[in-house]
Amino acid sequence: MKVVITDPIDDAGIERLRKSGHDVETAYDLTGESLRSAVGDANALIVRSGTEVTDGLFEAAPDLVIVGRAGIGVDNIDIDAATDHGVIVANAPEGNVRAAAEHTVAMAFAAARSIPQAHARLKAGEWAKSDYLGTELNGKILGIVGLGRVGQEVAKRLDGLGMDLVAYDPYISQERAGRLGAELVELDACLESADFLTVHTPLTPETENMISTDELDLMGGGFVINCARGGVVDEDALAAAVERGTLDGAAIDVFAEEPVSPDSPLVDVDEVIVTPHLGASTEAAQENVATSIADQVDAAFAGEPVMNA
Ligand code: NAD
Ligand code: MLT
Repeated sequence: MKVVITDPIDDAGIERLRKSGHDVETAYDLTGESLRSAVGDANALIVRSGTEVTDGLFEAAPDLVIVGRAGIGVDNIDIDAATDHGVIVANAPEGNVRAAAEHTVAMAFAAARSIPQAHARLKAGEWAKSDYLGTELNGKILGIVGLGRVGQEVAKRLDGLGMDLVAYDPYISQERAGRLGAELVELDACLESADFLTVHTPLTPETENMISTDELDLMGGGFVINCARGGVVDEDALAAAVERGTLDGAAIDVFAEEPVSPDSPLVDVDEVIVTPHLGASTEAAQENVATSIADQVDAAFAGEPVMNA
């Protein structure tokens, strides 16, 4: 069977597919006609977040059995179009959860202590010790929007670092939140009490721009962290809130358009620290998601049940 991989995945996944006897081709950084042509005879397509899997792409790949997402978010895959074309969509929902949670914690500390800004100035030869007076996470309130796999791992880690937890997630029970030491509250209450707000929802029509000007005004200070999906937090509203001092800062790993434009307001504002969608970029996480998606492609080809479809 022919497997085409259009975003880089770990070699372990590629080797596993080749060992199973499949013809594996990598075709990275393609768009438009060259992307359509690369998937023309594919039986499986493997992507991360870079490839937009549209109706047009399904049209161009009539022999496709499965699209595998080597990671969690499937917002770059048109699920309705996949259903119309009878193509399975599967993801790897477990393998990068700890990596994403650790990156969130790192971003919280980096923002609270202005680490990237101080680092840049020291590298430029400036000893700016007196310009940075940070904030401790200990004793502060962490507001978590979306208490799923990543949100729960963030909760455990930051609870352990002495933060008090509130969470907004309309789809989980108070008992489940309680087991993590979090109080489940409405969104407004979460925003009003949070010193640090971290979002961990998927990007859906319901969550798109769910944190915008009115919501940020409710925080009236503190930091916003987004290591989930660009577009859950309204980017213009966030940059404006930091710039006018409504917020102390923000830490953003994901963007509505990726790669983010250097002209994005988030890139421009000094108190907004940014990373290029690195949440899942650890060796362990990449090996986990690559091998997990390879197994699911194999299962689909063998007509066996596909996990996480
Ligand atoms: P998950 O499905 O396990 O959890 C998502 C949670 O969000 C669920 O508990 C759900 O009930 C909740 N939710 C859904 N709609 C909501 C709403 N309107 N308001 C509040 N909560 C809502 O997903 P996950 O594995 O925890 O992943 C969370 C996010 O992190 C996803 O967007 C995923 O793509 C992203 N992610 C990013 C990286 C990265 O590299 N930065 C890595 C891993 C995951
Ligand atoms: C995910 O949703 O799993 C992340 O976007 C990770 C990634 O593939 O970079």
